Amino acid sequence: MKKYLLLLTAVVLNTVVFAQTNKDATMHQFVKNLMAKMTLEEKLGQLNLPASSDFVTGAVSSTDIADKVKAGKVGGVFNIRSVVKIKELQQFAVNQSRLHIPLLFGMDIIHGYKTIFPIPLGMSATWDMDIIERSARIAAMEASADGIQWTFSPMVDLTRDPRWGRVSEGNGEDPYLSSAIAKAMVKGYQGEDLSAPNTIMSCVKHYALYGAAEGGRDYNTTDMSRVRMYNEYFPPYKAAVEAGVGSVMVSFNEIDGVPASGNKWLVDDVLRKQWKFNGFVVSDYTGIPEMMNHGMGDEQTVNAMSMNAGVDMDMVGEGFLNTMKKSLQEGKVTLAQINKACERILIAKYQLGLFDDPYRYCNEQRSATEVFTAANRSEARNIASQSFVLLKNKNVLPIAVGKTIALVGPLADAKENMTGTWSVGADNAKSVSLLKGLTDAVGANGKVLYAMGANLEDDAELQNRQTMFGKDITRDSRSAGEMIKEALAITANADVIVAALGEGAESSGESASKSNIDIPEAQKRLLKALVATGKPVVLVLFNGRPLTLNWENENVPAILDVWFAGSEAGDAIADALLGKVNPSGKLSMSFPQNVGQIPLYYNHKNTGRPLNGKWFSKFQSNYIDVSNEPLYPFGYGLSYTQFDYSDLTLSATQLKGNQKLTATVTVTNSGRIAGKEVVQLYIRDLVGTITRPVQELKGFNKIELAPGESKKVSFEITPELLKFYNGDLKFDWESGDFEIMVGTNSKEVKKAKVNWSK
Ligand code: BGC
Repeated sequence: MKKYLLLLTAVVLNTVVFAQTNKDATMHQFVKNLMAKMTLEEKLGQLNLPASSDFVTGAVSSTDIADKVKAGKVGGVFNIRSVVKIKELQQFAVNQSRLHIPLLFGMDIIHGYKTIFPIPLGMSATWDMDIIERSARIAAMEASADGIQWTFSPMVDLTRDPRWGRVSEGNGEDPYLSSAIAKAMVKGYQGEDLSAPNTIMSCVKHYALYGAAEGGRDYNTTDMSRVRMYNEYFPPYKAAVEAGVGSVMVSFNEIDGVPASGNKWLVDDVLRKQWKFNGFVVSDYTGIPEMMNHGMGDEQTVNAMSMNAGVDMDMVGEGFLNTMKKSLQEGKVTLAQINKACERILIAKYQLGLFDDPYRYCNEQRSATEVFTAANRSEARNIASQSFVLLKNKNVLPIAVGKTIALVGPLADAKENMTGTWSVGADNAKSVSLLKGLTDAVGANGKVLYAMGANLEDDAELQNRQTMFGKDITRDSRSAGEMIKEALAITANADVIVAALGEGAESSGESASKSNIDIPEAQKRLLKALVATGKPVVLVLFNGRPLTLNWENENVPAILDVWFAGSEAGDAIADALLGKVNPSGKLSMSFPQNVGQIPLYYNHKNTGRPLNGKWFSKFQSNYIDVSNEPLYPFGYGLSYTQFDYSDLTLSATQLKGNQKLTATVTVTNSGRIAGKEVVQLYIRDLVGTITRPVQELKGFNKIELAPGESKKVSFEITPELLKFYNGDLKFDWESGDFEIMVGTNSKEVKKAKVNWSK
């Protein structure tokens, strides 16, 4: 019987492989036939990606798009916010261009399309790959109804610098967690079949190292060793490639002195040859012509350089279109390179099913019934509440039924800000503010009093920079004193104060770097006045990055980090404040005590003079004026209940070769309500041929426990998990001692040691 089953499986597998090979052969033949009819100009046209004027993120914007489409000079267009406009442009391409090649329509669908989920940094705090994949699936279903077939997501730039505004778009500081998220998102967007009308092609970005910009200043120089690249910064991009991502966007920054947009080693060697990526590569917004500013030569030179590096599509620059013919004539690029780039774009279009039906993704009926639906919004509310991180709670939360709540702060009634940065498709006015969410949730069983209490910033110009793209926050012209006075007046009648403070939605995201990551002074003044009343205060923190919260941590009894939670933010936050949902998020990025500690990350090296013991120690690696500790470490997050960890047990302490090790703890919910806990596994390789981090995340398991319930949580460890890129960039593991750590966050762990030899 077993034999028969095996035989059957082999036959089925063979048939699947055969069918796929056949399908591929048909596709390649189709593309070959089409390319045989194309002129050089038409091929270059496929490599051209102008931006819609609906959403411009650079100094340059594209012009005459419709005429260029008709002339066959456009391969795709992005960030068009209307299915009607998309359909019209597609008609120009299909009906009026010589070869009727359909366009590719892209958009920055970063954390939802119309139904907006938390910003990616918030999503990563869920540590829940199922809901992350689900959020991408919903985004794809909604966007694909409105004509979009391609999203510039996931962004997986590892980052250790909260000054950099784009930390909000990524998954924090850890390669293992970020890799898992990269896979989940690619799967969510692309599904099993790219040609299905409700899946879209994903584009992992920004390849590579963009998150390591010096000083946290956007677009700035990066410089790092190859071992660091391979071990720490590359894994999430590679994970997306392994998950079958259809496209890759190169980054603005330089790597080893050569901008990514023209870096042959990065694109051709690493991405294509080492990782076997066979989709297409797109530049970032004017990334190719920006190489002129980097000092790489004139327009023709930088475009040829990009083509030689292996970049297939030129976003907004139009240099491929305008200079490549000359470069070909002068022998600076080859026809084979242009053909290859064109072929890759056409294959993507074929895989999306656009040659079968160019309008497959423009579906008015689906658009009317499947976008921003009650069901999607309800999932988004639920998902959002899983992203909140309870940073502190001294018996204030959850707020009991029947209380009078004073809701204060510039972010309390700011629905336009709830979606956070990069919500290109959203209608921000449809988001739920905290004021609305909390008032609805409390209903007749209590009272919500409201006052704005402070402006976002004292300086109007500084506020403007953080509230662009329709993320306005009303500015009150009264003095700070008058506003605080009004706020204090309503607190007099309240049992508890909820202070909705932090950053504006555009304080983070692209080109939103900051040198000061405190809560703005105007709001801090208000918070101090609220705390001085002696009433219990809950700080509901809106932020797109880790902030410096020393004073708040010392003085405010409860802090709930809600990031920018998306279109359903207000309802989701109310669910958490009132205890309908027990917070279970865990930080994916360390919160420093002050900016001087940056870069601060949990998986650092030990150095020759580690601080083993008490700060301050002379001649050890530490600061005179601040300890080495973060305020809140990676993996940290509290709950309304309490989880106790037993000691860690190992199945063996001496292992050989490919044996397996099982590490087990028992986790008990010793509190009075049900809750979820992310149990985290870290490993330290104690001796190596190159220095190794003091700990590295190597597994996690999110469990749910009823009050009083205990669960055994086991992690299976194989030598695969111990591998790293050594000094020769060989991926392997080395014999020796390893410390195994399991715990509730990166700092609070149970430890045990093993010896593992080859
Ligand atoms: C950003 C990308 C984005 C692109 C298209 C650029 O400015 O860096 O992340 O995908 O614009 O909007």
